[in-house]
Amino acid sequence: MFNLYETKTAKILKISDHVPGIKLFELGFDKMHFQLRFDEDARIYPGQFIMLSLPGFGEAPFAPCNKPGKNLELCIRAIGKLTNRMHILKVGDKIGIRGPFGIGWPIAGAQVQSSKFKVKNEEKKNLLIVVGGLGLIPLRTLILGKNEFLGKDAKIQIFYGAKHPSEMLFRNEYESWQKDGVNLQLSIDKVCEDWKGCVGLVTKLFEVVSVVADARAFVCGPPVMYKAVLEKLKKYGFADEDIYLSFERRMHCGVGVCQHCGIGSHYVCKQGPVFRYDQIKNVQGAI
Ligand SMILES: Cc1cc2nc3c(=O)[nH]c(=O)nc-3n(C[C@H](O)[C@H](O)[C@H](O)COP(=O)(O)OP(=O)(O)OC[C@H]3O[C@@H](n4cnc5c(N)ncnc54)[C@H](O)[C@@H]3O)c2cc1C
Ligand code: FES
Repeated sequence: MFNLYETKTAKILKISDHVPGIKLFELGFDKMHFQLRFDEDARIYPGQFIMLSLPGFGEAPFAPCNKPGKNLELCIRAIGKLTNRMHILKVGDKIGIRGPFGIGWPIAGAQVQSSKFKVKNEEKKNLLIVVGGLGLIPLRTLILGKNEFLGKDAKIQIFYGAKHPSEMLFRNEYESWQKDGVNLQLSIDKVCEDWKGCVGLVTKLFEVVSVVADARAFVCGPPVMYKAVLEKLKKYGFADEDIYLSFERRMHCGVGVCQHCGIGSHYVCKQGPVFRYDQIKNVQGAI
C-alpha cells in the first residue's frame, strides 16, 4: 500500500550536466516493486512531484522528467543546502525519495487522480506549452510521451524562454522533439552573439509566431511570468477552463499537513501543483 511518509532509497545511475548549475540525475531503485517508473505499479503522472531527501541536508520537491517507462530522472538546479549537496554526489551514491505527490497536467489517464479537472469545455485536442527557465522540467515527460498522453493526432507547440541559449534545458533533444512533430519556439531575454532567433521575454513569441489552434495551454515558470502569459492567452481567446498553471511554493511535508504551501484555502502540494486557471484566478496571492 502507498505510504505517504515512506522514503525509498534510490541509487544515482547517471549524472549529466549540459547547463551550468543544473544536473540531470538518472535514478534506480533497489527493489523492482519500488521502481518509480511510469508503469502500472507506481505510476507517476507528468506534472506531479516527488520529495527528495539527503539526511542532514533536508528534503525538497522536484518534478520527475524522464521518458515514460524509463528510470526516474530529476533535473536539479544547485540553489541551496540540499541541491548544492546533490551536485557533489557521484554515480553510485544513494538518496531518499518519497512520493509521487500532487495533481499533474490533465492528460489521458491522469484525470482519474482527481475529479478536479472535469472540464466544462469540450476538450481541445492540441497543446500550447508556455514555459520559462526551469519550467520546462515538469513538461519533458509529456513531450517525450506525446503520443501516449495526448494521442497521435495532437499537435504540441512549445514557447520556451530562457535568459541565454546556454541555459536552455535539454538542448540536445530539440532535434528529435521536432522530428516527432513538436513545434518548438525559443526566445532569449537579451541579444547575444550567434543567436538568430527571437529576442525578448517568452511572451514575445505570441507576437511573432502563429499560435496553434484548438489548444489548451499548460504554463510553468517563474511566478513573474504568469500575469504576462495569461494576458497573451486571453488575447488569443483561450478560455479560463483551457489554461493550466503549475505553481511553485515552498513545501515541507508535501502531503497537505504542514500548510507551508498554502495559496488561500488551496494546498499546492495536494490540490496542485497544477491548477486550472478558473479555479485559482480569484484566490489572493495565487498569481
Ligand atoms: C512542485 C515543485 C517542483 C519543483 N521541481 C523542481 C525541479 O524539477 N528542479 C529544480 O531544480 N527545482 C525544483 N523545484 C524547486 C526546488 O524544490 C527548490 O529549489 C529546493 O527546495 C531548494 O532546496 P535547497 O535546500 O537546495 O535550497 P534552500 O537552502 O532551502 O533555499 C535556497 C534559496 O532558494 C529559495 N527557495 C527554495 N525553494 C524555493 C521555492 N520552492 N520557491 C521559491 N524559492 C525557493 C530559498 O528561499 C532560498 O533563498 C520545485 C519546487 C516545487 C514546489
Ligand atoms: S507542503 Fe505541507 S501542506 Fe503542502
